[in-house]
Amino acid sequence: NLPKYVQIKEVGPRDGLQNEKSWIETVDKIAWINMLSESGVKEIEYSSFVNPKWIPALADARIVGKQIKRNPNVSYSALVPNLKGLDFALEVGIDRASVFMSASETHNLNNINKSIAETYPILKQVIEEAKQAGKLVTGYVSTVFDCPHEGKIAPSEVLRVCEKLLEFGVDDISLGDTIGSAVPSQVEQLLEGVLRHYQKEKIIMHFHDTRGMAIANIMTAMQYGINRFDSSIGGLGGCPYAQGAAGNVATNDVLYLLHGLGIHTGIDEQKIQEASLYIQEKLGKALPSRSLAYIKSA
Ligand code: HMG
Ligand code: MG
Repeated sequence: NLPKYVQIKEVGPRDGLQNEKSWIETVDKIAWINMLSESGVKEIEYSSFVNPKWIPALADARIVGKQIKRNPNVSYSALVPNLKGLDFALEVGIDRASVFMSASETHNLNNINKSIAETYPILKQVIEEAKQAGKLVTGYVSTVFDCPHEGKIAPSEVLRVCEKLLEFGVDDISLGDTIGSAVPSQVEQLLEGVLRHYQKEKIIMHFHDTRGMAIANIMTAMQYGINRFDSSIGGLGGCPYAQGAAGNVATNDVLYLLHGLGIHTGIDEQKIQEASLYIQEKLGKALPSRSLAYIKSA
């Protein structure tokens, strides 16, 4: 009873680059996102409209947003923490705003400098304004399994945050294994709770692959009917405010799994491999994706 089609959101240009120490030139980011736009992927998170002092690697979000070549078949999103970020994002163009907060109080404070209670009214306004502007909105919930500071997070805490974000009007929720620590039984436990309240179509899973568990966790989530996943080309990425968080699960590895299972994605694996090699060369270091090593000759 696995899904026949899985929708992947490519978060490499956002989650993948946000923690990079080396600066990727804006023209190179744009060329790379343009390559991704032609890969068949339907959703790309192209940058973050956050405080550039906190995330210097994405300080060029406005130029990137203005200059990428938009493919009408692709939905473009960006991370927005507040109204200032939303204004920038709307000015340069987004199809979808991604708001974000944590199920863990300490991680929320470290990541966005606010308590959970202080975050709600800010996100409520952002979500309402984004909806008024005719945009879709995704609500990311981080640390849904474990917090690097607080340890295990109960599904009830996650549900509380989901409830608020949905009440404020988000179209869907992306559940983040921020530090890549979950094992399949935790995914089962959380989804049992979440799917009792919400339709599976509203749920996206966002796995980091710190301990190599992401593919097993995706397999588990698909057995619950989940068919939307975030992944990052080459396995780039990490959260700068969650120590030990490695990259997202690699798009390359997810495609190898899905296509091998006969599940459609509409994405051309070869184009993803080529875009991986492009950014790997710009970064000057090997990307963690396992299947990238087995690139087919063109
Ligand atoms: P703050 O410092 O509390 O905000 O930041 P503030 O409202 O007091 O403003 C302070 C300064 O920031 C001011 O500038 C503002 O103008 C500026 P100053 O007067 O000092 O020169 N500022 C902005 N500048 C540009 N764009 C903006 C913006 N907002 C304020 N939008 C804030 C609050 C949230 C902005 C800050 O904490 C921040 O930018 N944090 C970055 C957090 C981040 O990007 N984390 C990584 C992404 S989340 C993630 O990776 C998890 C996820 O992948 C899911 C998962 O894996 O679990 C989504
Ligand atoms: Mg993430």
